[in-house]
Amino acid sequence: MEALKAKVDALLQEIAGTTITDAATLEQYRIKYLGTKGIIKDIFGMMKDVPGPQKKEAGQLLNSLKVQAEAHYAAHEHLKEGAAAGGAQVTDPSLPAVPVSIGTRHPLRIVENQIVGIFEKLGFVVAEGPEIEDDWHNFTSLNMPEDHTARDMQDTFYVSQNPDWLLRTHTSSVQARILEEGELPVRIICPGRVYRNETVSARAHCFFHQCEGLYVDKNVSFADLKQTLYYFVKEMFGEHTKIRFRPSYFPFTEPSAEMDISCSVCGGSGCSLCKHTGWVEILGCGMVHPDLLRNFRIDPEVYTGFAFGMGVERITQLKYQVNDLRLYSQNDIRFLRQFEQVLP
Ligand code: PHE
Repeated sequence: MEALKAKVDALLQEIAGTTITDAATLEQYRIKYLGTKGIIKDIFGMMKDVPGPQKKEAGQLLNSLKVQAEAHYAAHEHLKEGAAAGGAQVTDPSLPAVPVSIGTRHPLRIVENQIVGIFEKLGFVVAEGPEIEDDWHNFTSLNMPEDHTARDMQDTFYVSQNPDWLLRTHTSSVQARILEEGELPVRIICPGRVYRNETVSARAHCFFHQCEGLYVDKNVSFADLKQTLYYFVKEMFGEHTKIRFRPSYFPFTEPSAEMDISCSVCGGSGCSLCKHTGWVEILGCGMVHPDLLRNFRIDPEVYTGFAFGMGVERITQLKYQVNDLRLYSQNDIRFLRQFEQVLP
């Protein structure tokens, strides 16, 4: 054991003192110390002469020698690569730098930013809420009690630990959370991811993104809703875009409407995107239902409001003619790269 210790110490000193300056001296070092017939292999052979009780200590000693010898080799390994490249200098500092790819913004994020930016100009502020919601904020407070048929409009994922928890099916749950805080007036825009139990296809997905707006104040009318959305559409799709409202139903708004815009691809003359009607639906909206205001202790005789909700994927599809929803979550770099130039 003593002899072994002395030998290892001497070798460690020798290794530390070995200067490696190029590929040739590196290779000499490798053969001498680390090769199959090298010193370290040889010295491991001495293990068999170490008495049983000391074998563990000896093993550790030899291992640390091996690790240090290898580290000394690794620290000079770049010299070997230089040799492989014909002995030429590896880095030429006068060459232009290799461009570093920093990724791009996701198209949905680009469009979400555009939507939010337009409403911010009108004084809306961003509000966010949790993706795992409770029944009250996602359904009941929004005028959808437990047995309400409107719940079937949105096939829901429930959280198995707690039957009261679910993945929010719309960003309207954020409306509920903000109204609950009780501060009026409210003028918010709520972007976020939502979930529905749908089979994934080109036209449906089990998660997608919405942007919901809510404005509650004294004297808010349907005319305000209409002008606000008209402004949004002109900013988003251009000055010449037309809008139309169709009566619809949502439990949380009364009256409710769906809004169409003149087709962003054909301009209204008819194409496959608008199914030759010239119009495409982009959002649902309406005046906040008085019962919903009462749920949050707001007097509907004093306050009125409007709300609207749109799908970010839908707006992106219309702006950039993306025809398959699955593309958004496949992370195919050929798809994502096409949006590189859209925003800085
Ligand atoms: N939350 C509705 C949906 O997801 C959209 C909507 C929001 C409709 C606000 C009206 C008012 O379908």
